[in-house]
Amino acid sequence: MRDSIQFIKRQQPIIKRLLLIIAMLLAIYAVFPALIPSANSFETIMYRSGTYALIFLLLSLAITPLRRWLSICFTYLHAPYGKRLADWNFLIQYRRRIGLISALFALIHCIAYLHMEVVWIVDEAIEDALRRSFIWIGWLSITVYVVLTITSITAIQKKLKRTWRQIHRSVYGLLVLVLLHFFLAEKAGDTAYLPYVIIGGLLLIHRIVFAIVDRHNQRYDDGLEATR
Ligand code: HEM
Repeated sequence: MRDSIQFIKRQQPIIKRLLLIIAMLLAIYAVFPALIPSANSFETIMYRSGTYALIFLLLSLAITPLRRWLSICFTYLHAPYGKRLADWNFLIQYRRRIGLISALFALIHCIAYLHMEVVWIVDEAIEDALRRSFIWIGWLSITVYVVLTITSITAIQKKLKRTWRQIHRSVYGLLVLVLLHFFLAEKAGDTAYLPYVIIGGLLLIHRIVFAIVDRHNQRYDDGLEATR
């Protein structure tokens, strides 16, 4: 078992490159409708970039539960290796990468809106934000993305020390904002947001339950410290 986990660890450079290639292909696919303008180019770009940003955000948040459940399963199976959370620390490296991919799609989404909907007219953008609540929620989400992206730079991360952990917990607040944005952006009767709300809700419940359990056991691990 140890050998299999070590093997997966050794494949990390390949997996990381693969992730980057997938992100690049999806980004090209998301902005492709801009090259052949049609009546629904804007909606398609917004839909693809917005949902990809959300999917990668959910994936990055799933890394910590995955680590935890792998260690629980390996303990249950009495495996010689993989029972400790630390045995799965290598998975943490993917969280930042996947989070940054999510931020890239959020940026594409934001630029598409500014370019195609309000054509870079600030007054227009402000007016729209005041008129439609999901727009200002979107702006709030982008602000959180910017803070998380800047503070994920290793040098800044080291300078911030403990504050970094507190800042990065706001990723759960970001998830709530994005889900609310998606829900409010949908037309009446459209339930495309539902699977994302269910998965996001489960991840939030998981985070709360394990934070309580860990506090009770005087042990706290949310996977954040393992990055340092
Ligand atoms: C600058 C901030 C943002 C603005 C101005 C904005 C604007 C919009 C607009 C106008 C729509 C509706 C598109 C349509 O008419 O079909 C939309 C939908 C959506 N947005 Fe955003 N958004 C922002 C931030 C975000 C972020 C940060 C995310 C995700 C991480 C996101 C995810 C989504 C999703 C999933 C949809 C639903 C897509 C659909 O069903 O068409 N948005 N957004």
